[in-house]
Amino acid sequence: MSTNLPTALETEFTGKVALVTGGASGIGLALSRQLAASGASVVVADHDEAGARKAADELRATGARATAVAVDVTDPTSVEAGVAHAVDTFGALHLAVNNAGIGGPAQPTGAYGIEDWNRVLATNLSGVFYSMRYELPAILAAGGGAVVNISSILGTNGFANSPAYVAAKHGVVGLTKTAALEYAAQNVRINAVGPGFIDTPLLRDTDGPARDHLISLHPAGRLGTSEEVAELAAFLLSDRASFIHGSYHLVDGGYSAS
Ligand SMILES: NC(=O)c1ccc[n+]([C@@H]2O[C@H](COP(=O)([O-])OP(=O)(O)OC[C@H]3O[C@@H](n4cnc5c(N)ncnc54)[C@H](O)[C@@H]3O)[C@@H](O)[C@H]2O)c1
Repeated sequence: MSTNLPTALETEFTGKVALVTGGASGIGLALSRQLAASGASVVVADHDEAGARKAADELRATGARATAVAVDVTDPTSVEAGVAHAVDTFGALHLAVNNAGIGGPAQPTGAYGIEDWNRVLATNLSGVFYSMRYELPAILAAGGGAVVNISSILGTNGFANSPAYVAAKHGVVGLTKTAALEYAAQNVRINAVGPGFIDTPLLRDTDGPARDHLISLHPAGRLGTSEEVAELAAFLLSDRASFIHGSYHLVDGGYSAS
């Protein structure tokens, strides 16, 4: 007999407020959609304000509760205001996904631009710190919750000609473990996700032989999808992951297995 009752997964995050940085595109957008479809009130935080608004509009059109906020994760004041917007709009913050990130140019370490280094570190590493810096007090005030930081397979492997990206993503793993130790006893779980190469706008300039090379790094024979990363991140945010603290989980098509 079929019923119209929602399934357990459709209500998994009902009553929870989730903030997703970089939620306007790629992995962050897929995760925003998944969280909204599972009952969360979603705060799409992105420096692409129009993109964030479009994403929140799309979520609201499905019947979900969602709001957009312009946040530049390289600016702590902007991040603080984004977290305040979440709490003001929905009354609390329980879940956060620190996902905003950029790639940076391909150059060897001895030629890497200083400005590029600073920009990539500011976004991909300091951005995660600033985000947790303001999210964690709000999550504690709500009685606990969970954080997922989006690192990369390059949070554990090197990758020639991407020194800033690799250093930042390794840093995110260490920062995640440290914060997890600090908050584990206070009902806050903090974990990191390490995607292999995922078919998102981040790879927009990678085509032809360069794209084929990236694909060849994955025994699965293809790039991953944003939805495949969102699935893992949503699990880590959920109560199904209640004993998972401070760990780094790969979703990489087998990249790291060889
Ligand atoms: N695509 C991949 O192959 C891949 C692999 C591993 C990890 N990742 C990581 O996943 C995360 C999401 O990447 P994606 O592939 O979905 O890329 P994407 O370019 O599709 O999305 C990134 C989002 O972050 C936002 N953003 C960038 N800088 C920001 C800033 N300073 N403040 C606020 N928002 C900002 C962008 O506007 C965009 O909406 C990144 O941290 C990336 O490093 C991506």
